[in-house]
Amino acid sequence: MPTIHRLDEVASTQQVARALLDEGAEHGTLVVARRQTAGRGRLARAWQSGEGGLWLSMVVRGSLPAARAPRLTLGAAALTLEALDVLGAHAAVKWPNDLVLPHAVPAARLGPWRKLGGVLLEALLIEPGHLEGAVLRSAVLGLGLNVRTPTGGFAEELQDVAIALDTAGLSLDVDTVLGALAAPLQTRLLDVIDDTVFAGTLAFLRARSATLGMRVEVDGIAGLAERLDDEGALCVRDDGGVLHTVRAGDVQCMV
Ligand code: BTN
Repeated sequence: MPTIHRLDEVASTQQVARALLDEGAEHGTLVVARRQTAGRGRLARAWQSGEGGLWLSMVVRGSLPAARAPRLTLGAAALTLEALDVLGAHAAVKWPNDLVLPHAVPAARLGPWRKLGGVLLEALLIEPGHLEGAVLRSAVLGLGLNVRTPTGGFAEELQDVAIALDTAGLSLDVDTVLGALAAPLQTRLLDVIDDTVFAGTLAFLRARSATLGMRVEVDGIAGLAERLDDEGALCVRDDGGVLHTVRAGDVQCMV
């Protein structure tokens, strides 16, 4: 199996994995840190990553049309849900990359969910193609999961948004969660390149979606999150009945 580098403190595991990728590390090489001082999330947001969470990044080497890169985010989210299921935590995915747990009190932007973690795909080498379009050759896939509530609690701005597995009654250590997740990510993530496998991933995600059926706002479009199309894009029907296909975005649930 590819190496798992376990580090104490880093700025961001994304940076370390990127350096390893540049040095030729194989697909599936994992970097895990106990703490990050400059963890980052999607849309250049900071990611609180003190002790108690699973902070990992994986070197991805594959070959898939760049337009299909979102499959990797969705595939990683699905594998994470499966691993959490085995551990007894039944999470859902807020499209496209948020891992969430149900919560009795609705929160702004999230609705009746709290954020347990998230997936961050940073595509690195994309070769321009002629006939079939650009091809993704390498990327770094990051995953953050709140396993234990940080000592002193989440930062103020996260208090109504974030949740850890311990709050949901699951007292696990980070290594146990890593143990459930590492091999599936290392060996199965690229399977989503195959259309049949990806169709299965989508079926699973549709059933475990925190977004479908909700009233949402994304990309300036407000409406009902109706379905995921065959490439995993979110289809939102606005109030005028027009169906919009959103390939990437930051979904706000209206509660
Ligand atoms: C998101 O929901 O915005 C994605 C969060 C991804 C956080 C992880 S933690 C490990 C890896 N290193 C980082 O700096 N970010 C990702």
